[in-house]
Amino acid sequence: MVADKRVGILGSGDVAKALGKAFASHGYDVKLGTREPKKLESWSKETAGKVSVGSFADAARHGAFVIVATHGDGTEAALELAGPKNFAGKLVLDTSNPLDLSKGFPPGLLFGVTDSLGERVQRKLADAKVVKCFNTVGSPQMATPKFAGGPARMWICGNDAGAKRETETLLRELGWAGALDVGGIDGSRWLEAMVPLWVRAGQALNTWSHMLQVVT
Ligand SMILES: NC(=O)c1ccc[n+]([C@@H]2O[C@H](COP(=O)([O-])OP(=O)(O)OC[C@H]3O[C@@H](n4cnc5c(N)ncnc54)[C@H](OP(=O)(O)O)[C@@H]3O)[C@@H](O)[C@H]2O)c1
Repeated sequence: MVADKRVGILGSGDVAKALGKAFASHGYDVKLGTREPKKLESWSKETAGKVSVGSFADAARHGAFVIVATHGDGTEAALELAGPKNFAGKLVLDTSNPLDLSKGFPPGLLFGVTDSLGERVQRKLADAKVVKCFNTVGSPQMATPKFAGGPARMWICGNDAGAKRETETLLRELGWAGALDVGGIDGSRWLEAMVPLWVRAGQALNTWSHMLQVVT
């Protein structure tokens, strides 16, 4: 259980709504941030628990920890609007993926191998503790995950050991078996690269509730 239960979520899409609903159902005080708060009016009315909506900056200020759930292409712009100083000292969970759909489906990556969105988020929020998390599963499986193969651990990476321990606590609270920590934030290069593969595996298996896991 995390002591300070205020969570800010940057985003108005499926990920922000799924994680917002999940954290609210676990007693967290959730604020979603968007450029257009009006579009989340019905979502906030229909969602049980303590949920509110504001600007990106409102959400970043609100959270004792903050989740980045913005489109890969717009993530750095969203952080600029949110105000990097509003993240100082905080755990930031980055769910975003730099997917390139310019050549259609399945996607590639806008950039990778020598850089990643996780690293760009950490560079932009130099005083925050960024952990890449949730980017490797579909939004319906982010909380209370159910896999035919049994309990699973979430892929994470980040530079701060304490932030990763806090992330694992949050993951367990949402029903994960724990975290699979692949090292520093530069590991985002490979966690983001898993997503075009995840899409191709989904096409091959005709499912979107799967996850890539390691078997030893
Ligand atoms: N959907 C999934 O199942 C899934 C799973 C794993 C990871 N992800 C990743 O999680 C992130 C969120 O995905 P999503 O499907 O929930 O939503 P999305 O459609 O990818 O992103 C929507 C959010 O991005 C913001 N945004 C888009 N362009 C922007 C710009 N130029 N400047 C500022 N903000 C901008 C939107 O802001 P407004 O609210 O102001 O419109 C909105 O909040 C993505 O990076 C995605 O790759 C998604």
